[in-house]
Parts: sequence; C-alpha cells; structure tokens
Amino acid sequence: MKLILIGYMGSGKSTLGKKLANKCQLPFLDSDQLIEAQTGHSVSDIFAQFGEAHFRQLEKEVIERLHDHEAFVLSCGGGLPCFNNQMEVLNKLGITIYLERPPKELARRLLHSKTERPLIQDKSLDELVSFIEMSLENRKAYYEKAQVTVPRSVGTPKQLHDFLINAGVVSLY
Ligand code: S3P
Repeated sequence: MKLILIGYMGSGKSTLGKKLANKCQLPFLDSDQLIEAQTGHSVSDIFAQFGEAHFRQLEKEVIERLHDHEAFVLSCGGGLPCFNNQMEVLNKLGITIYLERPPKELARRLLHSKTERPLIQDKSLDELVSFIEMSLENRKAYYEKAQVTVPRSVGTPKQLHDFLINAGVVSLY
C-alpha cells in the first residue's frame, strides 16, 4: 500500500502521516527530509543557494526513486504536486490523499514554524492569510486531482484513520 498525503504547508501532512504510518504499520517518508538527507542541505539552504526551480527538480527525482518501494506513507512538500506534472505521477504511484484546510487555519498553524519555510518566512499573520488565499487558488486545481479529499472536520489521527477505513482506502486489520 502506498498512501500519499498532499496539501498546503501546515495542513498536518507530517504529523498525521507519521501516526497513520504507525497505525498501518508502514514506513513513513517525507519528501523534504529525503531531499535534505540526499543533498546534505536544508530546504531553506536549497531555496537560497540554488533557487526554487532546482528544489522542484529535486522533488521530482525523489518521487522517481520511490517507484521501487513497495509500501509507505509519504508526506509530500506542499508545492510538490503542483510542478513538473507531479500530480499525474503521484496518482499513478499510489493513493493520493488531499488534506483540505481553510487558509486561516493554515496561517495560524504556520505562524509558529515559518522560519524553516522559505516561501513564507518574512510574513505577518495578515500577510500570511492573503498569501495562502492567493497561492491556494493556484494550487487547488492540482490538489483537487487527489483520489481522496479529507475535509477539515477530520483533524485527529484517529479521525483520519477511521475516515480512510470508511473510504475503503485502508483496512481495519
Ligand atoms: C513548500 C512546502 C514545504 C517545503 C518547501 C516548499 C511549498 O513543505 O517543501 O518549503 O512550496 O508549499 P511542507 O508542506 O511540508 O511545509
């Protein structure tokens, strides 16, 4: 089983993904961490030194290497599905699951962890909300190609697990 979590920064992909992997007894992978381990640079350094286009290329290569893996829960960086045709690639690789969250909730969550996220590091709460609204408008078209959409009301790891059981994505045992 290959479960692929996508969604905007701050939507809970890593936190929920780790718990989900645990419950399903699958390895947990995170595209940002794989890139950092492979390059020896933090995501912020890669943006600052080599630019966003280079980072998007690294994301693409990380996904290419996952075709050999049998099973995992993968948390994708927020922009990964929106560049280089990656949404189509992800949909062939496994079951894509979009964590849909409203901009204000995302902004609140991101306010505390924005320094390690180069796209938003200098923004105030109000600026963050406008930025998210604008970029979500562009990204939604990609995210909405996911095979499963998880609504905002599904917030805890248990709720997500139950939701995916009901959706027939994961089994009870
Ligand atoms: C990005 C999201 C980040 C990281 C990078 C760019 C984006 O991952 O890949 O800072 O373009 O939305 P998270 O979604 O895990 O924060």
